Amino acid sequence: MSIDIAVARALHVLAVVIWIGGVSMATTVMLPAIRRGDLGGDPLHAFELIERRFVWQARFAVLVVGLSGLYMIWRLDLWDRFYSLTFWWMHAMVCVWLLFAFLLFVAEPFILQRHFRRWAAAQPEAALACLHRVHGVLLVLSVATILGSVAGSHGWSPS
Ligand code: HEM
Repeated sequence: MSIDIAVARALHVLAVVIWIGGVSMATTVMLPAIRRGDLGGDPLHAFELIERRFVWQARFAVLVVGLSGLYMIWRLDLWDRFYSLTFWWMHAMVCVWLLFAFLLFVAEPFILQRHFRRWAAAQPEAALACLHRVHGVLLVLSVATILGSVAGSHGWSPS
């Protein structure tokens, strides 16, 4: 493997670890603690304090994953994979990436900030329960994608 591919792959995986690791921590540790009231009586404030710091790390990691992934596709000329369902994990990576890119760069700053805050102020328990469920779904999709792409890129195929 040439050095540029090795660097792109290493950066890709490192950024996935930081990004999806953060999603896992938020889903399995932070949100349950906030919903139980362990971080104080104002759950929305506690969520925003933590989220405000992580969201920039997540945005940067999403950019690194996308750029390093595209670089590998271009350098190794892997475009044909998108015509075959055997490489479902390539489609899954792009879909998960598009989903998070939309959430982090469009929905969070332009839609969620205003509407979610209003909903959470009126019905904090329902809003946080919904937020927790959404994080759970994103985590399951991400974990399935990671399992598929590690196995797939090392030669495993379902057929
Ligand atoms: C635009 C988005 C993305 C593109 C273009 C992309 C592209 C790639 C490419 C070309 C590879 C190397 C495949 C091979 O060597 O056969 C790869 C590997 C991998 N990708 Fe992505 N990817 C993207 C997003 C993601 C996302 C969102 C995740 C995780 C949720 C992810 C996780 C991985 C993992 C775990 C590997 C395997 C690394 C290894 O075991 O060496 N990728 N990706």
